[in-house]
Amino acid sequence: MPLVPMKELLLEAEKGKYAVGAFNCNNMEIIQAIINAATIEKAPVIVQASQGAIKYAGIDYIVALTKLAAEKAPVPVALHLDHGTDFNQVCLCIAKGFTSVMIDGSKRSIEENILVTNKVIEVAHSAGISVEAEIGKIGGTEDNVHVSEAEAAYTDPEEAKYFIENTHPDALAIAIGTAHGQYKGVPKLDFERLSKIHALIDTPIVLHGSSGVPDDALREAIARGVSKINIDTNIREAFMAAAKDALAANPKELDPRKVLGPAREAMTEIVREKIRIFGSSNKA
Ligand code: G3H
Ligand code: 13P
Ligand code: ZN
Repeated sequence: MPLVPMKELLLEAEKGKYAVGAFNCNNMEIIQAIINAATIEKAPVIVQASQGAIKYAGIDYIVALTKLAAEKAPVPVALHLDHGTDFNQVCLCIAKGFTSVMIDGSKRSIEENILVTNKVIEVAHSAGISVEAEIGKIGGTEDNVHVSEAEAAYTDPEEAKYFIENTHPDALAIAIGTAHGQYKGVPKLDFERLSKIHALIDTPIVLHGSSGVPDDALREAIARGVSKINIDTNIREAFMAAAKDALAANPKELDPRKVLGPAREAMTEIVREKIRIFGSSNKA
């Protein structure tokens, strides 16, 4: 079916008390793995591309591949810009066919974050496109920029309320102890903070940096109000492990399909696993 705005998927998830998986893509095999997994699980799904992914693959390829895969699939798919930091980049994504955009103003002051988020909302909403905003700073590496543990800042619930009252995005990313990339230890989430934020705002909540978060912690986060969960690193791990195994088994392999095929299968499996943990199987 045609790509859908993210907002409708998240409102259904809130009602049904599950989360929609948002999986990062960088090439055709990853897009196919995400949408194949969602199709097998009969789950709504979000395919997302970072600015780095767009730079790598080219925006027209990301849009065309995702649109094609979505149109062939019997489940609803949204195409979302992940961590957009630039107003012009966001406008380009909207013009090219993304059905959702994130404006990540988390590195700006709260007032500047409100200003840029409202600028994006005005353009996006007039085109029927959903908007995710962010308040608080998520640790780890994104777009090759590293936010250390010391720089990461948990979302303040009152600040989140103030931000939402002055913006009204369709989803809000918060920082409650997760970080992008691989964890050194086991991440500990601040569930009380999550519940406080959820009690103060009626906007769907997004959890970033979710690879490596224990399954039970993900379930608890959903029970306390998270309705979109971002996964990138687990997909990269599955891709690279399967590709390395295929090459190790046959170091003289000449056919890229013998490497990329198993990688695509491994990614499909991990995406299916996450979808089941998020409770979104059979929700399409
Ligand atoms: O938020 C970070 C995502 O994992 C995207 O990472 O900027 O390397 O594509 P990337
Ligand atoms: P991970 O790579 O830690 O799964 O984070 C993904 C993410 O938050 C993308 O925005
Ligand atoms: Zn993120």
